[in-house]
Amino acid sequence: MKFFVTTPIYYINAKPHIGHCYTTIAADCLAKYHRMTGKDVFFLTGTDEHGDKIAQAAKEKGVVVEDFINEMAEVFKKMWEKLDISYSRFIRTTEKEHKDTVRNVFKKLMDNGDIYLGEYSGYYCVPCECFIPKAKIDEKNPMCPDCRRPVKILKEKSYFFRLSKYAKPLIEYLDSNPNIIQPAFRQDEVKNFILQGLNDLSVTRPNTVWGIESPTPEKYSVYVWFDALLNYLTGAEYSDGKTNTFWPPDVQLLGKDILRFHAIIWPAMLMALGMELPGKIFAHGWWTVGKEKMSKSKGNVIDPAYLIERFGTDGFRYFLLSEVPFGLDGEYSEEKFIKRFNSDLANDLGNLTNRTLNLVEKLLNGFIPDMFISSQMEKLFDRTIANVDKFMNCVAFSEALNEIWKLISELNRLLDTEKPWSAPFQSAKQTIAQCISGIGMISLLIYPAMPATSRKIWKMLDIEIQEDKVSLSKEILNFLSGRKTGKREILFMRVKT
Ligand code: MSP
Repeated sequence: MKFFVTTPIYYINAKPHIGHCYTTIAADCLAKYHRMTGKDVFFLTGTDEHGDKIAQAAKEKGVVVEDFINEMAEVFKKMWEKLDISYSRFIRTTEKEHKDTVRNVFKKLMDNGDIYLGEYSGYYCVPCECFIPKAKIDEKNPMCPDCRRPVKILKEKSYFFRLSKYAKPLIEYLDSNPNIIQPAFRQDEVKNFILQGLNDLSVTRPNTVWGIESPTPEKYSVYVWFDALLNYLTGAEYSDGKTNTFWPPDVQLLGKDILRFHAIIWPAMLMALGMELPGKIFAHGWWTVGKEKMSKSKGNVIDPAYLIERFGTDGFRYFLLSEVPFGLDGEYSEEKFIKRFNSDLANDLGNLTNRTLNLVEKLLNGFIPDMFISSQMEKLFDRTIANVDKFMNCVAFSEALNEIWKLISELNRLLDTEKPWSAPFQSAKQTIAQCISGIGMISLLIYPAMPATSRKIWKMLDIEIQEDKVSLSKEILNFLSGRKTGKREILFMRVKT
């Protein structure tokens, strides 16, 4: 079975921030999970490199735009490496392959009448790269309704995509696929928006704008969103109506601010091309500081590099995935971060591993006992695996992690009640076996969220696991008996407030 997951492609006018890391870590967690369940996974991410704000950013730095984008694409790749991101393909919209896709699609839609020549007159927000309907603008003080920044007035000849024609088919599609847009309340939101009527979409900008040249008799640049959305097709090796076998995407992740592009324009473009639509479009919430969205323009961003330095890659990944249900907004604060880190990681998971391995060392000379697992424990493992699977299939990371933490608590409780340090030898051995097998299972269950921690545990348990073959099964328990545990390591050092 295949599993195709995408992130938005990120504007590279500035270095990655928490929002970018959030979507990418979430996608990575899904990719790793589905690989573990034996699927053939294709994970697409990349960079959105066209549009005036990128050209402006290069100019401000005093470098030519080509050098700027090459440098910034590397900055993103380095961040993903640091965050243990296992993408299959990193796409850049300045690649020849992508430019060809965009021109071919544009031409195809011109040929079938879905793109036509007209004139645009109205407002445009450069930071959001979007056209704004007059009804949403206060003429005395024209500002973007989303980002509250000044807008430009445009009056230009332009090619239009016949978006209005797809309002009805989109509604029909949403009605017959009630779970395509997630969380569910977003589907209603999108539907209501479409029901208010859709305008055709201007898909060209003057050719002075940094972008892909349109395949039209007059020279234009292709509108950056029309260009960007097609990355998902380029990534799937689209050519002349055909793709590789991964099409359609199973889950497309994005922030709620760009849901309309993905839930309206994008499916309409696919309908116009006669392509199958994605299985799920999941809009996550925003990280806020107080009630404000964390964003560069508001000057309230926290540098991910700082958080990674302080809490480690896995501490950072864990916080983002566990702190709020995926789909809702999350308020960031350092206190919350520290609290979660100390209680869930240093205390719960860290102590369980440390205490158990300490006992193996002291009572069993470092040798893992035979794995006689109680049927109660076995049931607990099965239930955890089933619940995690249920939640991961709904893209519910915090709930899936919560299931794993229930297992961790259960094992800590077992240690507290059985007290193997003062119990008779056989009973101590029995308790230790339960805990070690639990740690083995946990090392697999947490792998999609915290891969580096899994690696550390495997090392301490002296087991070698090939990461592209790691699978979520109790088979790991067969390898554990009789092994001499490796050097013990503190998984998470408590952080001081
Ligand atoms: N280039 C477009 C996407 C094109 S996809 C065909 C774009 N790029 S972006 O760099 O501005 O943003 C990408 C992602 O970051 C979005 O999913 C957005 O929601 C997310 N975030 C930006 N700030 C955020 C927070 N403060 N919190 C969570 N995610 C937010 O849009």
